[in-house]
Amino acid sequence: MTQYLTPTLTSRLPKVGTTIFTVMSALATEHKAVNLGQGFPDFACDPALVDAVTAAMQAGHNQYPPMTGVPVLRQAVAAKIEALHGKVYHPDLEITITAGATQAIITAILAVVHPGDEVVVLEPCYDSYVPNIELAGGVVVRVPLTPGTFRPDFAKISAAITPKTRALLINTPHNPSATVWSKADMLALQDLLAPTNVLLISDEVYEHMVFDGQLHESVSRYPGLAARAFVVSSFGKTFHVTGWKVGTVAAPAPLMAEFRKVHQFNVFTVNTPVQHALAAYLANPAPYLDLPAFYQRKRDLFRAGLAHTKFKLLPSQGSYFQCVDISEVSDLGEADFCQWLTREVGVAAIPLSAFYGDGFDQRVVRFCFAKQDTTLNAALERLQAL
Ligand SMILES: Cc1ncc(COP(=O)(O)O)c(C=O)c1O
Repeated sequence: MTQYLTPTLTSRLPKVGTTIFTVMSALATEHKAVNLGQGFPDFACDPALVDAVTAAMQAGHNQYPPMTGVPVLRQAVAAKIEALHGKVYHPDLEITITAGATQAIITAILAVVHPGDEVVVLEPCYDSYVPNIELAGGVVVRVPLTPGTFRPDFAKISAAITPKTRALLINTPHNPSATVWSKADMLALQDLLAPTNVLLISDEVYEHMVFDGQLHESVSRYPGLAARAFVVSSFGKTFHVTGWKVGTVAAPAPLMAEFRKVHQFNVFTVNTPVQHALAAYLANPAPYLDLPAFYQRKRDLFRAGLAHTKFKLLPSQGSYFQCVDISEVSDLGEADFCQWLTREVGVAAIPLSAFYGDGFDQRVVRFCFAKQDTTLNAALERLQAL
């Protein structure tokens, strides 16, 4: 019998394995742990949104939409950005609908990064950024956010920028640290980038989860930043439908033209009925305007419960994450602690070291509080017994 062999290959991403989120979720299932690891809601979205998808399918919106996204959704997104941030994006030239923020980010990177270009990331950072840059042949330049506070260090960012720097990636509200950038941060960044040719990729997927009356400082509010930026959003985060994988990107027309060249031959476009449903649903701003209060209540419930544990709470200004210092609870490193917590205590968390290239361990882990109150209370009961 002929033996058919699978050719050997050299990995394009030799350092990439299974993500920590998948590993911890699998461990949580195996040990029947309360999963506060991976960042997704365990509650339903608004039934009206599901009805809107059904209605769109029944109305016959089931074939390919335009490559850039259905016009009504692009128009609704442009109107929303203008109403919230005062920035006018042209819906036909400057807004594209993507398969979630993840696809928007890799597409922006592939569109602008040439082999050998440097791209600055601020660590800790979301796990897709670095492999995306590597796939584009870019050189990853890691700048730490200030340990302890996770504030941007503009002197360090400035020092990292060279004539080879093509782009900088930022993320506010920030995963995993739950910090948000202030107006002063944005102005400092605008000044810093003004004399450079550096592009900005701004990951704003948690834009509607900013607490204590603070404002989300979108890059689109700052003309000097918006002129050089891809601003990325995610309907999955905002409307509790992470599995739908629909997001948007806004950028000046010349940048968007390049973005679309890659998008066209990557996913080409995003599923039609969901786009129509989102467009109809966006007519009412209440669901996203009410989101800060919705998540702030959950944050407060979770923090009040954690106050009766030995964890030291870090601030949670935005996103749906709460970080805690584990030093008083355990001598283990972050990753071992998370494994132990899942197996022995029955609560899954994510080590912050997973968001650093060198696995930097500062004894801090991340919980996700986008969960039903009963889930949060079940986790708190276990954590309080520690
Ligand atoms: C910072 C950040 N960016 C992007 C994403 C991905 O968003 P999407 O599900 O829309 O691809 C996530 C999801 O966890 C995230 O935390």
